Amino acid sequence: MDTLENLRAQVLAQVEQAQSLDALEAVRVASLGKKGSISGLMASLGAMAPEQRKDAGARFNVLKDQVTQALTDRKGQLEAQALDERLARETVDVTLPIRPERTGRIHPIAQVMEEIVTIFAQMGFAVAEGPDIEDDFHNFTALNIPPEHPARQMHDTFYFGAREDGSRHLLRTHTSPVQIRTMVKTPPPIRIIAPGRTYRCDSDMTHTPMFHQVEGLVIDETSHMGHLKGCLTEFVRSFFQVDDVPVRFRPSFFPFTEPSAEVDIGCSREGGELKIGKGAGWLEILGCGMVHPNVLKACSIDPDKYQGFAFGLGVERVAMLKYGIPDLRTFFDADIRWLEHYGFQPGDVPTQAGGLSR
Ligand code: PHE
Repeated sequence: MDTLENLRAQVLAQVEQAQSLDALEAVRVASLGKKGSISGLMASLGAMAPEQRKDAGARFNVLKDQVTQALTDRKGQLEAQALDERLARETVDVTLPIRPERTGRIHPIAQVMEEIVTIFAQMGFAVAEGPDIEDDFHNFTALNIPPEHPARQMHDTFYFGAREDGSRHLLRTHTSPVQIRTMVKTPPPIRIIAPGRTYRCDSDMTHTPMFHQVEGLVIDETSHMGHLKGCLTEFVRSFFQVDDVPVRFRPSFFPFTEPSAEVDIGCSREGGELKIGKGAGWLEILGCGMVHPNVLKACSIDPDKYQGFAFGLGVERVAMLKYGIPDLRTFFDADIRWLEHYGFQPGDVPTQAGGLSR
């Protein structure tokens, strides 16, 4: 009896005194581990007479439960203590100004995406995301591009190897699969933009295998082509900060929109210098249209009740136009001198009020 009480007092004291998780683990092994003191007691039950065993077994079990509980409690305390210490040690004052000797820059792509998000956020769009690695359904089929559709060839898709069922994943060729992912899981009304990376097996002066798009999608019961035009015209003027920049909607074709249009903005090339605004020239910057009823159906949205518009914008293209970056491929050269020249200060956060850009 005495030995049992002594053991109880001793083990509980050890638990209480353990100052680290390692020390506590040592106490656990020494008591409840395979060769531990309490496990030893349990093992001794086998040699006892049946009536003695019943009584002793009950008491040993109480001891075991008590020690187990004490170990759990102490572990919780030590973990909380360790976390507090770590939080105290790792405090960061996020209000401190950026140190001037830090020369890191924000890449123009990141900055421009932030600018675009800021403009659309103010119009009430939420940001949606989807994976870079897509399946055929989201990238093509649900977007009204069935197998054998010629648009599939035009997309120069990077495919992964075939899986057991013969299907192949791919790197998304546009951000439009995020339309599908959003419509499948959110009932209308929907108003989202989806900035992200896109991939096509294409590389020359004006194409890189990886590039960026911002997708937009509005679905409700009443949005029409007029809203699409108003929304994108407002965006273009806000983004380029030219109030009277001419915007032209030119009929076009996409399988997932009907009618479809491409949007051009006015520019002049006088004296060899490209300027956004009134002028003789036009530059194409995005594709758009009214969401095709087949796309709504693929997402179980009733096309007799709901309608809306979508657009896809090339980020590199508008970044080059806005900031006078002449060569697409330099975006991805990771040349520190280029980044120092075209990059942005980390503190240059775009806001509508504070100015979208320097
Ligand atoms: N996904 C199209 C592309 O990459 C762009 C687009 C998006 C067109 C949405 C219309 C509507 O070419």
